[in-house]
Amino acid sequence: MHPGNKRRVYINEVATRDGFQIEPHFVPTEAKIRLIDLLSMTGFAKIEVTSFTSPNAIPNLRDAEEVMKRIQRVPGVIYTAMVPNVKGCERAAVCKVDEINLVMSAGESHNLANLRMSSERSLDQFAEIAKVTEGSPIAINASISTAFGCPFDGPIPPERIFYIVERCIKIGITAVTLCDTTGMADPAQVFLLCNAVRTCFPNMNFTAHFHNTRGMGLANVPAALEAGIEHLDASLGGLGGCPFAPGASGNICTEDTVHMLERMGYETGVDLDRLLEIARSLPKLVGHEVPGQVMKAGKADAKHARPEWLDGGKQASCGAGSLKP
Ligand code: COA
Ligand code: ZN
Repeated sequence: MHPGNKRRVYINEVATRDGFQIEPHFVPTEAKIRLIDLLSMTGFAKIEVTSFTSPNAIPNLRDAEEVMKRIQRVPGVIYTAMVPNVKGCERAAVCKVDEINLVMSAGESHNLANLRMSSERSLDQFAEIAKVTEGSPIAINASISTAFGCPFDGPIPPERIFYIVERCIKIGITAVTLCDTTGMADPAQVFLLCNAVRTCFPNMNFTAHFHNTRGMGLANVPAALEAGIEHLDASLGGLGGCPFAPGASGNICTEDTVHMLERMGYETGVDLDRLLEIARSLPKLVGHEVPGQVMKAGKADAKHARPEWLDGGKQASCGAGSLKP
């Protein structure tokens, strides 16, 4: 789509938050720290390290403080953490996160299921949190879950997203992530919504967050980029999902996304070979296969050895001899 055009795309790696929150088993704290330290060396713009949620709601991330405090921060990488309420913000601030990622849902039912409060209450909490962080170096991003459709409430009208973004602007928030929490978005819808919000709110810094629940995840990426989005969330190995959304499954896979974007001529800043090496260690770490494709197939420009019979082996009689270079 953009051959030779080195447009920059900024990747936020979310595996240790969106991925680990839904894993069937707790990933040991040491392993989390080791993984984040490796990811820090691959060139990501941002890493969503963990979330400061209730340990009853998300037991897998109950070690948020220890992980956040013990990782080795690489200058230039933004270390962010998801925060659902004021209490979470206070915990994150103690750990000196660079950014807090606030969360609410466009769909009222998902907000209630996920955060046990109305979406209006969530917006009020956003305002309270913005006051708590005022004057501190902590940046704020607001993630709007179910922005492209809610598994309980169905389609989300674009006006609903405009309303939430307007509320965020009034609070002083300058960065918003549009999340397709359960993989309902298609590329045409992604282009329309992303284009509309970028046109209406040119000063807002938008990120797109896709899940591959219905196989549309990677297809949505070029659609978002065409609409001018420059920031993407993605998850190593394609881990991920919301425990409070039926049928939720993995985010778009980071290494597959980077591989696709680099082939299309985009610049991600991510060292793909290093990332693939880390991705290949993931099944052992989480104890199951992961959805990533490039880690299994290899990069598209990787050449395989020619079958021996092409170069004069036994099968020359079936016409292969004529294929000799
Ligand atoms: N960190 C740690 N503990 C927290 C907390 C936080 N951010 N927020 C609340 N708690 C604790 C309270 O102190 C209280 O503890 P206690 O029972 O020992 O007194 C308990 O959790 C319940 O508090 P309450 O305010 O009634 O919360 P709740 O039960 O209504 O749950 C949330 C609300 C938002 C805290 C909870 O639903 C949550 O953490 N959700 C996260 C969802 C998520 O991350 N989903 C995936 C990402 S999309
Ligand atoms: Zn997600």
